[in-house]
Amino acid sequence: MAVRYRALRGTRDILPDEALRWQRLEAATRAVFSRYGFGEIRTPVFESTELFTRSVGTSTDIVRKEMYTLTVGDESITLRPEATAPVARAVVEHALHRGIAQGYPERLFYIGPMFRHERPQKGRQRQFHQIGAEVLGAPEALADAETIEMVWTLLAEVGIEDRELRLNSVGDEGTRTAYRAALTSWLTPHLPAMCDDCKRRAVENPLRVFDCKVEADQRLLAGAPKLLDHLTGEAAAHFDEVRRHLDGYGIPYVIDPRLVRGLDYYVRTVFEITSTGLGAQNALLGGGRYDGLVGALGGPAVPGFGFAAGMERLVMTMPEGQAAEARADVSLVALGAPGFQASIAMARRLRAQGLSVASPLSERPLGAQMKRAEKAGARYAVFVGESELARGLYGMKDLATGEQVDRDEAGIVSEASR
Ligand code: HAM
Repeated sequence: MAVRYRALRGTRDILPDEALRWQRLEAATRAVFSRYGFGEIRTPVFESTELFTRSVGTSTDIVRKEMYTLTVGDESITLRPEATAPVARAVVEHALHRGIAQGYPERLFYIGPMFRHERPQKGRQRQFHQIGAEVLGAPEALADAETIEMVWTLLAEVGIEDRELRLNSVGDEGTRTAYRAALTSWLTPHLPAMCDDCKRRAVENPLRVFDCKVEADQRLLAGAPKLLDHLTGEAAAHFDEVRRHLDGYGIPYVIDPRLVRGLDYYVRTVFEITSTGLGAQNALLGGGRYDGLVGALGGPAVPGFGFAAGMERLVMTMPEGQAAEARADVSLVALGAPGFQASIAMARRLRAQGLSVASPLSERPLGAQMKRAEKAGARYAVFVGESELARGLYGMKDLATGEQVDRDEAGIVSEASR
């Protein structure tokens, strides 16, 4: 039996009709982000494995079990599971922080595929795509709030109204040492009843117990001490200011004291925006502040704030647009051999005038060509046969109304460009 190849589990093809929705999302992203001064960065799809283990953290699920890592020659490389660490690497490598030192934060955005070996389900894939934005060199709380406001605006622009902003502060490194001690002493008597993963997390990095998906554990953890009650004065003031700015923008939010996010580099503000329509994987996007990351990667002390949104989840949540846009303006219908010959050059001339043209690749019966015109989503069928060529006038049929008029080539261009 012949082998039938299929896209691998957790990956999928995006076909032209669906791709139109992706293009709409990408166009809106570029338009909105450029209004906020963000420039695009494109980093490689693979990086050194160490870049991710050092930044995302060795006790996170991503690094422990989800990375696509391979050894090529004597190099260990990993398909990027996220792009914040690569962006931080690029900032150091290209000394973008020099500009930052003069007081200009660097605002970067990216759109592209990421890879995590997770169990696929609705809204969760192994190759998925993110839209992300990172602000480097801005310690101010306004950078947090303005970036959140930007993505809030993007969601509105693509018609996603069903959204909830969840906000927390995970404090500063100093805060976390004190909190870790409080959490560990609370955990000790509860651990025997908790899952094996939590037992391991309690030793390696207690904060990660909040990643636990086991319901009984989650119920227990509701009674755990809260990070928010352990913030330093500075971290608490930063958080208050972020909230004040969000209030000023009129963006509603809920405080979620158990929101810690699945990556280790965060300090202070963390946030997610969820949507009820998504089901279990309900996070449209998430992010936060990572003031220590650039330094940890060997760069100067450059603070950072950013987020990433899952494009599959955005596309799933976006309302249906207007009827799928017509993909061709004109479909040429060739009548007989001379018509077919003439249609080859005519298609080229019309395309040069900016029209989108579907044209026959061989002589075909009229019926088959009309079906092709329909399939191409063409607005007009234009008939090219011997008598049309002799007159220089072609039948131009509006496929929606069925109305037909005679037009010369210039007339076809002006009518179809309207
Ligand atoms: P993250 O929460 O790991 O954060 O991912 C951000 C978003 O990517 C999620 O909210 C979700 O929409 C989407 N996503 C993650 N994993 C999958 C998957 N397996 N399938 C489909 N969608 C997925 C980060 O990646 C951070 N780098 C965000 C950030 C940027 N923080 C600061 N700057």
